[in-house]
Amino acid sequence: CGITACVGGDDAVGGLLTGLGNLEYRGYDSAGIAVPDDRGLNVVKREGRLDRLREALGTDRPTGTIGIGHTRWSTHGPPTDANAHPHQDCTGHVAVVHNGIIDNYETLRRDLEGRGHRFESETDTEVVPHLIEEELTAGKSTEAAFRAAVQQLSGSYAIACLVDGEDEVYAARQGSPLVLGEADGRYFLASDVPAFREFTDRVVYLEDGDIVVVGEEGYDITDLSGVPLARDVDTVDWEPEAAGKSGYPHFMLKEIHEQPESLRQTIHGRIETLAGKVSLEEFDAGAFEDVERVQFVSMGTSHHASMYAAAQLTARGMTANAYMAGEYADCPAPIDEHTLVVAVTQSGETADTMNAVRRARDAGARTLAVTNVVGSSVTRECDESLFIRAGPEIGVAATKTFSSQVVALTLLGERIAEDSTGVQRAAVRSLLEGLADLPGDVQQVLDESNAEGIADALYGCDSYFFLGRGPAHSVALEGALKFKEISYEHAEGFAASELKHGPLALVTENTPVFGVITGEDDLKVISNLKEVQARGAPVIVVAPASFESEVEFADYHLPIPESHPEVAGILANVQLQLVSYHAADQLGRPIDKPRNLAKSVTVE
Ligand code: G6P
Repeated sequence: CGITACVGGDDAVGGLLTGLGNLEYRGYDSAGIAVPDDRGLNVVKREGRLDRLREALGTDRPTGTIGIGHTRWSTHGPPTDANAHPHQDCTGHVAVVHNGIIDNYETLRRDLEGRGHRFESETDTEVVPHLIEEELTAGKSTEAAFRAAVQQLSGSYAIACLVDGEDEVYAARQGSPLVLGEADGRYFLASDVPAFREFTDRVVYLEDGDIVVVGEEGYDITDLSGVPLARDVDTVDWEPEAAGKSGYPHFMLKEIHEQPESLRQTIHGRIETLAGKVSLEEFDAGAFEDVERVQFVSMGTSHHASMYAAAQLTARGMTANAYMAGEYADCPAPIDEHTLVVAVTQSGETADTMNAVRRARDAGARTLAVTNVVGSSVTRECDESLFIRAGPEIGVAATKTFSSQVVALTLLGERIAEDSTGVQRAAVRSLLEGLADLPGDVQQVLDESNAEGIADALYGCDSYFFLGRGPAHSVALEGALKFKEISYEHAEGFAASELKHGPLALVTENTPVFGVITGEDDLKVISNLKEVQARGAPVIVVAPASFESEVEFADYHLPIPESHPEVAGILANVQLQLVSYHAADQLGRPIDKPRNLAKSVTVE
C-alpha cells in the first residue's frame, strides 16, 4: 500500500492524485482521498484502479489546500469501497490513511465497539480514527489526541491523519516507510519519494518513532512523547522519470532489493519462534488432518517454488509432487479424498494453472490457492487461499514473489505435515528461527554481493548451466530460467545427478557452470562441479561462507550467510537473481519487459 499527504499550494486534490498515480506500483486495488474545504470533509474512495477514483471525483472537485490519500494492495479484507482508505470516526470529522499492519487491532476494536463505536470496514486501520475521536471527545488538542492514539498501537505503521476544519496533517512512522518532501510553499508526506518527486527533490527520511505535524508554514518532528527531533534534509539525485522505480534503473532490481521488506510481510504474525510454532490464521486447528498427499500445480517461477516445497514435504515423510500445471490439466494425477491440490500462482490468473485447478476440483480434490493477489481468479476457484503478501511485482521476471512463495509454502508445508502426522517436529524451531532471520540475511546478501563482477567476468560465453540437488535443484532451475528470460543467452538448469547422463556432452571452456550448495547434504555437487571443471568449464559456487575451504577449487564463490539449510536456497537464489540481472544489463536488454514474454499468461 502507499499513503500520501499534501499541505499548501492551491490544489490538494491534484497533488494527491499525482502522488497516488506515482505510488500505484505499491498497490492498485482501491484508492481514496480526504480533503476538507468549505463544504466540510470530503472523503472519496473507490475499489479498483485510480481512474475509478478520478471518475468519482468528476469535475466538481474539493477545493481545499490540504489532504491525505491512499492506494491499497489488499492483504486482508477484499478490495471494496468500504475497505478502501481513508477511514473515519463516528463523527465523520477525522480521516486516516495507513500502510502496515496493526497487530492489536482486534482487541482495540472490541474495546471500542464495547464503548459504542460503529465500524464500517474489515480493516485494522479503522480503529485509529475512532481512538483519535475518543481522545478529542475527552478534550485533548488534535496533536495530543493523535499521540495518545498512536501510543495505543502495536505493529507496523505509517499513518497520516487530518481533522475537519484544521490546517495540519499529523503523521507517525513505526516500521513502515514514511518520507517528507519540502517544496516551495508546499509539503508532502508519502510512503516513498516517487509520490512527490516531480514537485521537489528535497526530502526528509523520517525514522521509527517519529511524529510529524505539517502545516502550510512548515513542519515539526518530535518523538512520541513530544521531544523535538532534528532530521536532515537530503537531496535526491534521480530524475522524476525514474520515479516508479525509486531511483533504480529497473523494476527488477528494485524488486530484488525489496525482498527484506516483502519477506517481513510474508512471515508477519505467522511464526511463533518461542513456541516453535507456525501460526496460519487462515486455517483451523487440524485443518489438514485428513491430507495424505499434496499435488502442487503451477508454471514458470511458481513451479520452481512448488518443487522446492514438494522436496521439503517429501523430506517430512509426505507424498508430495510438483506438476507443471499445463501438463496436469491434460493428464491429471489420480486424486482421492485425502489429496490436497495446491495452486501456486503469483498473479492468480495463469490459464494453465486455472485449468489444472478446475480439473482437480471436478475430480473431487480439495483445492488451495497460494497467491499474491487478493481477489484474483484462483482465489475464487479454490476452496481456500493463502496470500504471500509480497506486494505488487512489475518486472516480468518474478523475483521477490519467488522468495515469498517459498516462505509461505514452507510454513504451509509445516502445518500440513504437522496436522497429517499428528506430531510437531522437534526440528521446526530451528527452521522458524532461520525464517525469522531471513529478511536480515537477504539484506546482507544484497549489501555484500559480488554478483556484478562475476557476471562481468563471464560475459560472452556460449551457454550457462546451473546444478543443484534436492530443494537446490529447483533453485538451479530458477537460476537458469531467470538468466535466459532476461539476458536472452542460452541457460539450462539440471539436477546435479543428471549431468553425467547427457548434459555433460555440452560442457566446454565456454560454458560456465553454477553449482548451488545450501548445506552439508549438497556437498556431493562438488564432485559434479569438479567433473565439469576438468573439462575446462568455469565453475561458480553459491554456498554458505563457512564452506570456503570446500569450495576453494571453484573459480568464483558467491557466498551466502550461515542459515538454516532449508532457507539457504532462497539466499542462493538472490545471488543468482543478481547475476542474471547484471548479465542482462551488460547486454543492454530491456530487463523489465523481455521480448515475447508476459507477466501473466492468460492463454493456454
Ligand atoms: C509467466 C511469467 C513468469 C511466471 C509465470 C507463472 O511466464 O513471465 O514470471 O512465473 O508466468 O505466473 P504466475 O502468475 O502463475 O505465478
